[in-house]
Amino acid sequence: MKKILFIIGSLRRESFNRQLAHEVELLLSGRAATAYLDYSDVPLMNQDMEFPAPEAVQRVREKVAEADGLWIFSPEYNYSYPGHLKNLIDWLSRPLIAGDRQTPLAINGKKTTMSGAGGASATAKCREKLTELLSLPFIRADVMTEPKTGIQLNMEAWTEGRMILSEEQKAMLRQQVEAFLAYLEE
Ligand SMILES: Cc1cc2nc3c(=O)[nH]c(=O)nc-3n(C[C@H](O)[C@H](O)[C@H](O)COP(=O)(O)O)c2cc1C
Repeated sequence: MKKILFIIGSLRRESFNRQLAHEVELLLSGRAATAYLDYSDVPLMNQDMEFPAPEAVQRVREKVAEADGLWIFSPEYNYSYPGHLKNLIDWLSRPLIAGDRQTPLAINGKKTTMSGAGGASATAKCREKLTELLSLPFIRADVMTEPKTGIQLNMEAWTEGRMILSEEQKAMLRQQVEAFLAYLEE
């Protein structure tokens, strides 16, 4: 069974994007092994502490290396990805030994898909910029182009803090699940 690591781009306890990941976890049940990456203790990038990398950074690198695929669920912050998600990816883009650009990194070639729940744009700008970031030379993740699910949260979600997906949104997620499972087999 393939291992899919969920990365939630929100640190908020009741995060809609975490709720979205739970929906996908249910859809993947029995078809892939899923786990959530805890990166809340990864420090802000500081080149003074890069080598050896802090223990939290080593741990997230190992989790990424062990996974067959990554599924990022992220909110959009100011038409882009949240800073803490960028910080995580910055750490993943760096070598394990100073100056070593030969040894592959855990993120290189890692099959990745993304979804997001947010406001009117349904996180389109975030997903576009995240795809660009993950495709940069030192990162080179293998991002599945389509489908990527964007959920525009309805009024009920904003007032009650609970996301209830429409049948259409559930169908989009199911389609992405099928596509990503097939992508992991390629
Ligand atoms: C700093 C900040 C910037 C935001 N910018 C956007 C934005 O550009 N587009 C958008 O749809 N929502 C934006 N939002 C609202 C988020 O969509 C909303 O807070 C959402 O609940 C965050 O996702 P979460 O529930 O998974 O934490 C922003 C929120 C914050 C805190």
